[in-house]
Amino acid sequence: MKYILAAAALAQIAVATEGSDHELEKRLDNGLGLTPPMGWSSWNVAQCASASERYAIDTANKFISLGLKDLGYSYVNIDDCWSTKSRDGSGNLVPDPSKWPNGIKSVVDRIHGMGLKFGLYGCVGTMTCAGYPGSWGREAQDARLLASWGVDFWKHDACYTPCTNGQTPQTCWSAQFNTRAWYETMRDALASVRSTKNIYYNLCQWGRDSVWTWGNSVGNSWRMSADNWQDWDSVERIGSAAAGISQYSGPGGFNDLDMLIVGNNKLTENEERLHFGLWAICKSPLILGNNLNTISAASLAIIKNKGIIDINQDRLGKPATIFRPSGSPAPVSGRIYSYWAGPLSDGVVIGLVAGTGAATLSVNFRDVPGLGSGSYSWREMYSGRTGTGTSVSFSLGNHDMAVIKVTTSEWYSQCV
Ligand code: GLA
Repeated sequence: MKYILAAAALAQIAVATEGSDHELEKRLDNGLGLTPPMGWSSWNVAQCASASERYAIDTANKFISLGLKDLGYSYVNIDDCWSTKSRDGSGNLVPDPSKWPNGIKSVVDRIHGMGLKFGLYGCVGTMTCAGYPGSWGREAQDARLLASWGVDFWKHDACYTPCTNGQTPQTCWSAQFNTRAWYETMRDALASVRSTKNIYYNLCQWGRDSVWTWGNSVGNSWRMSADNWQDWDSVERIGSAAAGISQYSGPGGFNDLDMLIVGNNKLTENEERLHFGLWAICKSPLILGNNLNTISAASLAIIKNKGIIDINQDRLGKPATIFRPSGSPAPVSGRIYSYWAGPLSDGVVIGLVAGTGAATLSVNFRDVPGLGSGSYSWREMYSGRTGTGTSVSFSLGNHDMAVIKVTTSEWYSQCV
């Protein structure tokens, strides 16, 4: 599905030109996703082959044995290919019996019994991206089924929708309608079953129609880009675009930068630190797209960094974005800028990013939004380095990142 990329690049240009004074519309307000969800998704592990009970239960067990549950990872999400290729005689989706020998509900019950949550995947169009039945015209029926199974999270993809030429290809970049209406149909269907089950709603239409400007009135999070294709270029493409849309993200409705690929042997250790740190400070959902059976100790340490998780889960829910200290070069489109900052309930997070090569990056706290000319205590979350003063400086290898929490007094949290 690489051809999603070109149009997504156009969407990213729109990001850069978007005004920053947009009024947020009324929030979905289903009470879910007040901080970004944390969990795992089956897609990157083995695509269709991992959409099964075996992977779901195995991952739930790993959440507990690896200590991930204790850190807040709770959603075990099954992506595309979990159903049979056709609905049953009543029009219901059918779990593929070869992948779900005990059906979905029994698995949901077991996962709930472990203190965890379960997510499923579907699609706006007539078929999912991998060609399984989509929810087109069946939204209310599908929502009732999900609620009856106790499903906690629903990812709604955007394949096989009507194009202006009357066809329904896998990916239509010239849709007959704004995608918003389609996503509202499923929102309303999920709302109608809320008394049975309140379901987290994740929009996946790859950042079309400036979804960040309306996503929070429709869903709890929205993909703002084409897929993370499991390479550095994707991390750079998505991470750089996130800076321009931070203002649209907040409690109950977050920009979704897509699944984390930490632990898949696709990035260097530096790049894994940058990927996790940047997604976390941007308040993206932290959804692991990896195989927890084969993850290295180094990668596991990154996704278990409690200081960074706490920043992601801060109750303010305000994403970091770029700022430009005096004398620093201008941001370059498509590259991850060096200086990031965002408010926390008890301080400020600063991200220093060596996005284009090894660098020594220094910042005076007086240049940081939310800080002043005084002396502050700080802690860098990967190295554990701490200090007190008016500035920090880090020498970083190529594509590495420092995540620095600067603690301010309690009055700060009351002023933001
Ligand atoms: C799309 C989505 C991916 C994944 C696949 C499944 O490409 O963007 O995240 O869900 O479909 O087919």
